[in-house]
Amino acid sequence: MKCRICGKEAFVKLRSYNLALCEEHFVEFVRRRVEKAIKKFKMVSKEDHILVAVSGGKDSIVLWHVLNELGYRTTGYFLNLGIDEFSNKSQKIAEEFANRFSLELKVEYLRDVLGVGIPEIARISKGKPCSTCGMIKRYLINRAGLDYDAVATGHNLDDESSVLFGNILHWQVEYLERQSPILPRDRTLAKKVKPLVLLTNHEIKLYADVLGLPYIPDSCPFSTGATTHYYRDILNTLEERMPGTKIRFYMGFIENKKGFKVKEKELKPCERCGYLTTAGICSFCRLRERIKIQFNLR
Ligand code: FES
Ligand code: ZN
Ligand code: ZN
Repeated sequence: MKCRICGKEAFVKLRSYNLALCEEHFVEFVRRRVEKAIKKFKMVSKEDHILVAVSGGKDSIVLWHVLNELGYRTTGYFLNLGIDEFSNKSQKIAEEFANRFSLELKVEYLRDVLGVGIPEIARISKGKPCSTCGMIKRYLINRAGLDYDAVATGHNLDDESSVLFGNILHWQVEYLERQSPILPRDRTLAKKVKPLVLLTNHEIKLYADVLGLPYIPDSCPFSTGATTHYYRDILNTLEERMPGTKIRFYMGFIENKKGFKVKEKELKPCERCGYLTTAGICSFCRLRERIKIQFNLR
């Protein structure tokens, strides 16, 4: 198998594109996919200052690396969720990466913001803390992102297509409406972009490994058995049989999205903090109140 670009021995065959590439041209392929997503969806420009949400996992590390390589102005943002060893290890990786490439990294501690970490929140919430954790991350990343032109997150094609699959399976039409690789700035909501939407998990991991980028290999200890993992498995089975399914599924949706127009719920500023919400008080402020009562905090 030879690289289609230079004819050297290929090290990967991307079945969705029927494309064999050597290491060097694979790295170039990944960067081009990111650039394509940025241009196609008009995400950011070279003048923008982008806040990159970094978790220490491969996606956000690759995202930060590629944006930097492409010449974008970035600052990293790491939120320490207080999940003991997992959070500390992830933070070390984000710091190591920032040092290696001389990039600025902002660190925020959930314990400073709420007085507790995710393990305590898990104790007071029924079931898994992942959806509450997701809400907290969205809120705090958004808050940090308001000082920047855009917030970039590492959501990839597998994430987006499995969420899309779940939303269609349950006809959660109102979620479909907001599922987009770019969300424009709206009052207290920062602009959000997902430059990795055209790349799969596998391609991103390969990029990180080829370049020897540091990343935390394990996923959060709370995340096992999440429903989106089933959807992901189903899509992987389809992809295996019919290469290119994921990208066609996702891009088909984005291109035909107008057909899903639903009346959007009106967003109003939260009575406590001003964050846009459909309820009077946003979920973050409600959680904060609950934590204060449960843990007797001031
Ligand atoms: Fe938030 Fe796992 S990262 S619960
Ligand atoms: Zn090549
Ligand atoms: Zn609020």
